[in-house]
Amino acid sequence: MAALRTALCRRFSQPYPLTLGSLRFASSSFKASDLKIDRSSVTKPKPDPSNLVFGKQFTDHMLTIYWSEKGGWEAPHIKPFQNLSLHPAASSLHYSIELFEGMKAFRGVDNHIRFFRPMHNMQRMYRSAERSCLPLFDKAELLECIRKLVEVDQEWVPYSLDASLYIRPTFIGIEPSLGVSRAGHALLFVIVGPVGPYFTTGTFNPVSLLADPGFVRAWRGGVGEYKMGGNYGPTIAVQNEALKQGCQQVLWLYGDKEEITEVGTMNLFIYWTTKDGEKELLTPPLDGIILPGVTRQSLLDLAREWGEFKVTERTMGMKELLEALDAGRVLEVFGSGTACVVCPVGSLLYKGQTYQIPTMKNGPDLAKRFFKELTDIQYGRKQSDWAPFIV
Ligand SMILES: Cc1ncc(COP(=O)(O)O)c(C=O)c1O
Repeated sequence: MAALRTALCRRFSQPYPLTLGSLRFASSSFKASDLKIDRSSVTKPKPDPSNLVFGKQFTDHMLTIYWSEKGGWEAPHIKPFQNLSLHPAASSLHYSIELFEGMKAFRGVDNHIRFFRPMHNMQRMYRSAERSCLPLFDKAELLECIRKLVEVDQEWVPYSLDASLYIRPTFIGIEPSLGVSRAGHALLFVIVGPVGPYFTTGTFNPVSLLADPGFVRAWRGGVGEYKMGGNYGPTIAVQNEALKQGCQQVLWLYGDKEEITEVGTMNLFIYWTTKDGEKELLTPPLDGIILPGVTRQSLLDLAREWGEFKVTERTMGMKELLEALDAGRVLEVFGSGTACVVCPVGSLLYKGQTYQIPTMKNGPDLAKRFFKELTDIQYGRKQSDWAPFIV
C-alpha cells in the first residue's frame, strides 16, 4: 500500500499521504487555521538596528510543524524560541536530508510590514522538498503560518529603512534510523531574526573574487538548483581558500568551458557592450546548476519591463569574459541576492592573475538603479504587488 501511495503521489505530484477512496490517510497539508500559538512569557531586549550581525540574533518565537508517514502533518505551532530535541540518528544529521529558504520582512515608511515576492520562496522550498523526498505541503498555508509568526514577533522587525527581519524556513528529515532511505518523520520549522544592512544605503563596497576552475559548486544532473544544506557546507573550505588568496568571495566555474555560474551565494550579472555594440545584461540560465534566485528573477523582470537594453540568459565562459574585459566592453559585474540585493564585483583572481573590473568606475549605474528600485518596493516607498503589506 505504501508503494502504491508513493507511486500515486509521484504520478500526480501530490502532497502525500493521499486520501484514497475509503482508505483514509493523514491530511495532505497542514492548515494555518489549525495554528496553535503559545506566547513566550519573557521577551528578550531588541538589539540596536545599527549594530546587527547576520544570523546571530533571533526573536522570541519560532514555528514548528511535525510530520510522520503514519500520522501525516500535525497542527502548526508557534511557540517560544527554543532548542530542538532530535534523535542522534536523525537523517538530517547523517545524510543532509535538509533544505532551507531565505527571505525577509521589511518595515516600510508607512510602518506596515511587507514580504518581498514570498510565493517565489514557497515555490522554491516546495521544489527542494520534492527533490529531498520530504513531504509536500500547501505553499499558501505555509506562507500564512510564517505571516502569523512575523505578526507575533512584529516588534522585532527593525524600525529602520536599511535593516530587516530575516526569515529562515527550514525542513529536515528526523527519521530516527541510519538506513539511507526516505525520511518517515520530518520537521518543518521557521526561525526569524533582525539583520542589518549589507551596505549602508547607496554605498557599495565592491568584492574581489577567486575564480579557480579546480573547484565546483554544482553540476548538471546534481542538486545545485535546490536550496539544500548539502550544497553549502562543502563551499566553506573554498571560501576559506579565497580568503587565503586575498579574495572575498568565490566565482564558481563549471566544466571544460569554465562557465561562469554564481558568485558566493549570489546569482551573477554582467552588463556589457556586445561585439555588435549593443548594451546587454547577461546572466547564466537556469540549467540545473544555478539557484533560481528571487532577486535574479526580479532584476530580469525589471530590466525587461524597462526595455532599455538587451536582456539575455545564456552561458558565458571565462574566455569570453576575459576577452570582453580586455576589449573594455564590460561595464558592470554584480551579484544578486536577498542579503544585499546587488553586490558589485571589483576584481577577479584567475590562474594567478588579477583582472580589474570597472564596475565602480561605471557608477555602478545599473546596479544602483536595481538597488534603489527593489529597496523602494521593499520599504513601501513605491507601491507594488511584489510587496503587499502583511501586518
Ligand atoms: C547559491 C545561491 N545563489 C543565489 C542566491 C540568491 O537567491 P535569492 O535572490 O533568492 O536570495 C542564493 C541565496 O539564497 C544562494 O544561496
